[in-house]
Amino acid sequence: MSDVRSVVLTCAQPTGSLHLGNYFGAIRKWVSLPEVYDCFFGIVDLHGVTVSYTPSELRRHTLECAAQYLACGLDPAECQIFVQSQVIGHTELAWILGCLAPLGRLERMTQFKDKARGERASVGSGLLTYPVLMAADILLYNADVVPVGEDQKQHMELARDLAQKFNTTYSPTFKLPEPLIAATGARIRSLQAPEKKMSKSDSQHNGVVFLVDAPEVIRKKLLSAVTDSGSEIRASEDKPGITNLLNIFSAASGRTVSELEAEYSSSSGYAAFKAAVADAVIALLDPVRERYKTLIKDKGYLKNVLKEGAEVAQRRASRMLGKVYKKCGFLLP
Ligand code: TRP
Repeated sequence: MSDVRSVVLTCAQPTGSLHLGNYFGAIRKWVSLPEVYDCFFGIVDLHGVTVSYTPSELRRHTLECAAQYLACGLDPAECQIFVQSQVIGHTELAWILGCLAPLGRLERMTQFKDKARGERASVGSGLLTYPVLMAADILLYNADVVPVGEDQKQHMELARDLAQKFNTTYSPTFKLPEPLIAATGARIRSLQAPEKKMSKSDSQHNGVVFLVDAPEVIRKKLLSAVTDSGSEIRASEDKPGITNLLNIFSAASGRTVSELEAEYSSSSGYAAFKAAVADAVIALLDPVRERYKTLIKDKGYLKNVLKEGAEVAQRRASRMLGKVYKKCGFLLP
């Protein structure tokens, strides 16, 4: 990989199965990035221990996450897929950045306030310092561009401010990473509660289409999606259910929402429309699921992809960490 190309880095926690929202909002867009950028895709297991969890599941989810990335078309020959805990430097840099991060600012972060609500005395302090680790994930690679969801905006601001603060405290070292925020319009919502985004933590699993769901499961979920009153198939604010299905249909088929509205508006009502959405989603996910099934059986191959990704990541990380240590005044061996 050359040094002249800009670096894109993004990470996600290995919290189990990926869903349609992850696919349309993120992974599908990542696939074409290596044409232009040097790309690092991190599976951030160190972030996964900030709340209570089951070690054996974390390990399994990490491998499943890698297999799903590959099944979605990320090509390990063109980008680096790595596991955060396999690269030395994330926690080291997080410590240094943590010493620059004002406590008050961390305490005011929206996600911390939401998660720690009412339990501040007892939650682990990792929940508070998590955004510092995220900043370290980014700055360790001196990333130029960071694709993230809307909900990560505040964390990105902190990462930029910490980069700036390090640069002024010591000397210019880090580039200020640019967030690449997914268009909110394309956000995929829960099939059961379209006022909320599709999320794997949704207690209603019927509202979430997982990438590896069997075709009959996908069909059942889409046919039982909540719709709005009336029978018109039209995207509008007062029709969140139908709008969501139109967005899903459009993203899955590559056709525009207005084309789909024109084709289905006057047809046989919601049932036929939902069946057509199901067909499009099933056709899209069929090859992803089949590739996943093959990949997940080959743990040796998956581990090797991650090992090679971590090796490339480590080279870049070590260079940055070396610079940082020197500037911090740490005695080099
Ligand atoms: N905090 C991000 C999330 O919950 C995940 C994440 C961790 C991340 N480190 C990152 C995203 C670095 C982008 C870059 O979605």
